[in-house]
Order: sequence, then C-alpha cells, then structure tokens
Amino acid sequence: MALPGFLGGIFGGKKDSPSVIGIDIGSSAIKVVQIRKKNGQAVLETYGELALGPYGGASIGQAVQLPTDKIASALADLMKEKEVNVTTKLAGIAIPFASSLMSVIEMPDVGPKQLETMVPLEARKYIPVPINEVMLDWSAIPKPEVDDTVFPTEPAGAQKKIDVLVVAIHNDTIGRYQDIALKSGVEAGFFEIEIFSTMRSVLEEGLAPVMIMDMGAASTKLYIVERGVVRASHTVNRGAQDITSAISKSLGLPVERAEVMKREMGLSGGDKSVADVINLVLEYIFAEANRTILGFEKKYNKSVSKVVLVGGGASLKGLQELAKAAFKTEAVAGNPFGKLATPAFIENILRQTGPEFAVAIGTALRKLQDEG
Ligand SMILES: Nc1ncnc2c1ncn2[C@@H]1O[C@H](COP(=O)(O)OP(=O)(O)OP(=O)(O)O)[C@@H](O)[C@H]1O
Ligand SMILES: [Mg+2]
Repeated sequence: MALPGFLGGIFGGKKDSPSVIGIDIGSSAIKVVQIRKKNGQAVLETYGELALGPYGGASIGQAVQLPTDKIASALADLMKEKEVNVTTKLAGIAIPFASSLMSVIEMPDVGPKQLETMVPLEARKYIPVPINEVMLDWSAIPKPEVDDTVFPTEPAGAQKKIDVLVVAIHNDTIGRYQDIALKSGVEAGFFEIEIFSTMRSVLEEGLAPVMIMDMGAASTKLYIVERGVVRASHTVNRGAQDITSAISKSLGLPVERAEVMKREMGLSGGDKSVADVINLVLEYIFAEANRTILGFEKKYNKSVSKVVLVGGGASLKGLQELAKAAFKTEAVAGNPFGKLATPAFIENILRQTGPEFAVAIGTALRKLQDEG
C-alpha cells in the first residue's frame, strides 16, 4: 500500500537519506517495506505484500517452493504494483532461518583482532560443511554485568573465556538470493538471517530473556533471545496454513473459503466449530513453545519474561488472549511499525498487519543504518 500523496506535505521536503527497502521472501508471501530517514527518524514511505501461492499453483496463505525466476518476477511485480510503488533499488534482503547454521562456541578472550583469525579456524569444528562453502559471520556474546573480580568465576591467572555466536550461510543460498536480486532489479547491500531483522524491529533494549514466536505459513519458528543474542531456537512443523487446512477438512470447504473464514473469524468470530478447529492446531504449537521455554529455563536457570508474537499467523483474531493463557507469561503481538514514524490515521491497520512485516521492517532499518 502506498501512502496517500498528500502525506508528502507532512513528511516530505528535503530528503535526509535515500529511501531504502527491506525485503522478506517468506514461504507463502513476499513482503517489502520502504523507509527513509527524516530529521533523524525512520519514516515509513510504502509497504506491501504479495502471496506466492498463486505463483505455484496453490492458494493465498499456502507455502510453495518456487524457482528463483518465479520469485524474482513476483518480487518485481510487488514492487511496481500501483499501490506499493517502490521507488528505490537500495535493499537489504532477509534469509530464512532454516538456511542458516548457528552455534555458540567458547573461545579464549584474546581481543577482537586475534579473534578475527581464530574464529574461522575454530568454526570448522562446528560447521558440517567445508568452511570455504559458507559465508561466516560472528559476534562475541556480551557477558552479564557482574564484576568477577569480586566473584571470580575462574581461578586467578587462568585465561578468560568468552562465548562467540557463529553464523554460517551456505554459498549456494547466498547465490540464489543474489540471483533473485539481480533478476528483480534490486541492489542487495546485505543478506541477513530473518531472526536478526525481527529482533531489531520488535524488541526493546531489555536484558531479560524473551521468546519470539514467528508463526509463518508452514512452520512456526521459536527463538529465545537474551541480550541481543539467540540463545535457543526450535522450529515447529505447523503453521498458519495448517489452521486453514484443518478448517477446510472439518467443515468440508474449499481451501480458499477456509482461508477467508480463518482471517475473518479467527478465534473470536463467534463460530464455535471454527474456534474448536483452530484451537486444536494452536494447542500443538503452544505445547511445543512451552517445551522450548521450559528447556531454556532449566538449562540456564532463568525465566522467559515475555512472548512476542510475529508472522502472519499472529494476526489471527483472539490469538493474543489464547497465548496469554497458554504461556502463563506476558504475550504481546509484535509492533514493528512502532519503530517508524507513520501517519496517525493508519496506526490501527499497521498494528493489525504489523506482525507480518516484522522481518521486512527489521531489514529496512538495518539498510537505513548502513546508508546513514
Ligand atoms: N488475519 C489473519 N488471520 C489468520 N491468519 C493469517 C492472517 N493473515 C495472514 N495469516 C496467515 O499467515 C500465514 C502467512 O504468514 P507469513 O507471511 O508470516 O508467512 P511466511 O513468512 O510466508 O512463512 P515462513 O516465514 O514460514 O516462510 C498464512 O498462512 C496466512 O494464512
Ligand atoms: Mg516469514
């Protein structure tokens, strides 16, 4: 959706930064968000999404596997759609979590310079493919703010250790996304694993562990994040499309009709048979999420303070209430548009559709930082 032209009068004027886009190619839909910096603030210019199902013989809301050519033409279609009208090529592109390998490795605390050479060598042991076949990225995990001269955790004189988060993406994956960028006419400044984008767009500065639950079409991705680091993750093989198929099967409706019913009614649409079917799918997903939370809490002896819901599935009506009850902890829908200056009169719409755009907004925000 492009924002009405007259907003140019409010947000317009001299540009403080070039416009940039964040692109999220999900299994069921592509999302794009265009922003720019104005008076030190990230301002929303336009955003939109395009369902991929119809490009692969499936319906809207269903996950499909498509060749890069088709994805590229879908992305190009989305960007030039009249209501979207993307006006820049400067992009950051998100990469699915499933295409990444992450491990936390312990290293001697030898300072950033030496780590630069040591981490890739050490990472060989943890990455199951030849190191020259992957793109490697890493960052030291900040230590808790405790003064260990008062409470020494290591014997005096011992070499201090630090944890390093290592992330690897296979070169083939990068190649595929470069191909999509080239064919759709965007200049990809970077490729970023989607969870890092989401963290940027929905988390506050807080230190306590939180769970991000990304309910996509075919799967639900669970991440426990603490101090800006992914400490645990788990992918559940059920997602929002399973709700649609369950409604379709149990009420004997075509998938397209079931999809509409799901979105219109959700859990709070007043139809008990629909709500019962939805509940059944969600029960399974929430049980897995609770298991992941418990596993983390046991291992680290810390509690997860909050669950942040993102992904298209998080827009299901009544989901937040159900999540609150299921998790016995605070559960909120992610509000990534909240990180942007947006026109007041569409704030409600942006809150509702927000969870779906968490990845794309996070990628756009990084691109804006890179440009600034
Ligand atoms: N208002 C809504 N109510 C319920 N479900 C919805 C609503 N809007 C979208 N969905 C569902 O959300 C799913 C798509 O979510 P999303 O766009 O986050 O997935 P994706 O990014 O393509 O998937 P993945 O990240 O797993 O690759 C679809 O299955 C769709 O039916
Ligand atoms: Mg997604």
